[in-house]
Amino acid sequence: MTDDASNRLSGQDLTLSYDQRVISRDLAVRIPDNSFTVIVGPNACGKSTLLRALSRTLRPARGNVLLDGQVISSYPAKEVARRLGLLPQSSIAPDGIGVADLVARGRFPHQSFLRQWSAQDEAVVTEAMTATGVEALADRSVDELSGGQRQRVWLAMVLAQQTPLLLLDEPTTYLDIAHQMDMLDLCADLHAEQGHTLVAVLHDLNHACRYATHLIVMKDGEIVAEGDPATVVTADLVEKVFGLPVRIIPDPETHTPMIVPVDRRGRGRDHR
Ligand SMILES: Nc1ncnc2c1ncn2[C@@H]1O[C@H](COP(=O)(O)OP(=O)(O)OP(=O)(O)O)[C@@H](O)[C@H]1O
Ligand SMILES: [Mg+2]
Repeated sequence: MTDDASNRLSGQDLTLSYDQRVISRDLAVRIPDNSFTVIVGPNACGKSTLLRALSRTLRPARGNVLLDGQVISSYPAKEVARRLGLLPQSSIAPDGIGVADLVARGRFPHQSFLRQWSAQDEAVVTEAMTATGVEALADRSVDELSGGQRQRVWLAMVLAQQTPLLLLDEPTTYLDIAHQMDMLDLCADLHAEQGHTLVAVLHDLNHACRYATHLIVMKDGEIVAEGDPATVVTADLVEKVFGLPVRIIPDPETHTPMIVPVDRRGRGRDHR
């Protein structure tokens, strides 16, 4: 077995494309077990495309994604959904569905003809809604929620799936600053206390540096750097990847790298 195959989730020699349009070529990716892996990179560099491939939503044109030692496409869909939950970048709820009903859909992979809805399913759904702070919305219709409320309901659905692997595409989008931190703390707890492996796409580099145990930096469909954010994130790398001059200072709270964009308009010059 190669090192890649010994991780629960990895991809080898991946070519990812939409019809003829190739987004990534010869991509190798390895999600360390029990890590909180964060993927960062500019818009359209292929982060969501990679997450789709890792969750079997997109079939690679070449190469394989391995889940627990087997090619992911060889599993029945329900089996993948018992092992891995995906929060897509944008999701559309079925018309008129209620919050509790949507969250309950997270339990579908665990049900069968012989195993119908149980008190345990009910308890898991309630727990997921409490963890994401949406229990008061249980009887509301998803259509009528705010963007941030809706985002938290979707996360509750993914949590109700109770999978050891969670892939979250921009989970903090639409959330105010307090709910962003709640969401990231919840993810960190799932990782640290329950041993889940998390993969999240984030745009906020400071959040990425605070929370990631493993950072993957992408540009133009390639992984250009990965590892511990404290060693990976440099001003040179940020400028190379995002084309933005920055200064890096220690985050006063966590001592992780904090990225401060250089003031290109010179507004602070008089105060230095
Ligand atoms: N369904 C699709 N069909 C065709 N091309 C697509 C499709 N989805 C994405 N693309 C293209 O693939 C490239 C990578 O898109 P992707 O969504 O993976 O980027 P991203 O890194 O997640 O960006 P963002 O930060 O904006 O979410 C883009 O050029 C995009 O236009
Ligand atoms: Mg995306």
